[in-house]
Amino acid sequence: MPQKIIIDTDPGVDDAMAIFFALRSPELDVIGLTTIFGNVETELATTNALRLLEQAGRTDIPVANGADNPLTGPFGGPVPFVHGDDGQGNTNFPPPTTRPIDQTAAQFIVEQVMAAPGEITLVPIGPLTNIALALRLEPRIAENVKAVVLMGGNALVPGNATPAAEANIHNDPEAADVVFGADWDVTMVGLDVTHKVNMTPAHLDRYAASGDPLARIIAQIVPFYRAYFERSFPGAQGIYVHDSSAIAYLIDPALFTVERWPVRVETQGFSRGKTWPTLPSGNSGVLPPWQNRPLVNVCVAVDAARLLALELGRLT
Ligand code: BDR
Ligand code: CA
Repeated sequence: MPQKIIIDTDPGVDDAMAIFFALRSPELDVIGLTTIFGNVETELATTNALRLLEQAGRTDIPVANGADNPLTGPFGGPVPFVHGDDGQGNTNFPPPTTRPIDQTAAQFIVEQVMAAPGEITLVPIGPLTNIALALRLEPRIAENVKAVVLMGGNALVPGNATPAAEANIHNDPEAADVVFGADWDVTMVGLDVTHKVNMTPAHLDRYAASGDPLARIIAQIVPFYRAYFERSFPGAQGIYVHDSSAIAYLIDPALFTVERWPVRVETQGFSRGKTWPTLPSGNSGVLPPWQNRPLVNVCVAVDAARLLALELGRLT
């Protein structure tokens, strides 16, 4: 039986790649997309999510519109220099013809999880606001989801949005601290591993050469995103694989080395958005504010070659 997943997303070039990767994976049954601000504003995230499903011929999958702003304060703004003004590498594809459902993202998550106890895995690949709102709406989703596998955070490595913080967590640290603190099975696929997965120019060429129409779309949206990496990370060639790494974890968790640590999220000052696990060699796990927090599966190492082969094998 394929795993039922809801992808909470801010598409975003790498979100698009992750969604297509999931749709092409028989191990996964994508039962809905929920949208969130991050790479783009939420309204554009919804437009892009609908279009991606239309491009994939999967308009049977519902899209629920998410929150416009973090739990506290206004959204810090999109990142057109990373993903383009349209969030899809300035490809300016035509608008979708479909519409989101009437439920909010949080309502959709709650309804689906409570209707299928123990079956649904939440896969947030953007800021965690919708997930925190769903928990607030119905706290019992914590005991009724199968798992939460999220892309975000940085345990033992620097951030990317700031020297301290990863972008998804930085966009709503309060929501992230709620999600890491709830009593459910959370896996953090963060920069500790995604910055070790480099899809090279040779890999990316395979999308352009592929006969799969979704691979051809990836080949069109990626160049803008790739140019961002190559000018921002000295020596980088190609892209780092962020959101698709969470999809790879769902398909084959053995690709990853995982440590189980309580995680707190810094919500103050210039380190806002930093995810702090217990120190691997220390005793902070028994000290406040980590005390009485659940253990999070933190991915710390990855078999990058096998992950890339898995993802590329699905679309090229
Ligand atoms: C995360 O931030 C976004 O830009 C990407 O889509 C990914 O989810 C990486 O830090
Ligand atoms: Ca994303």
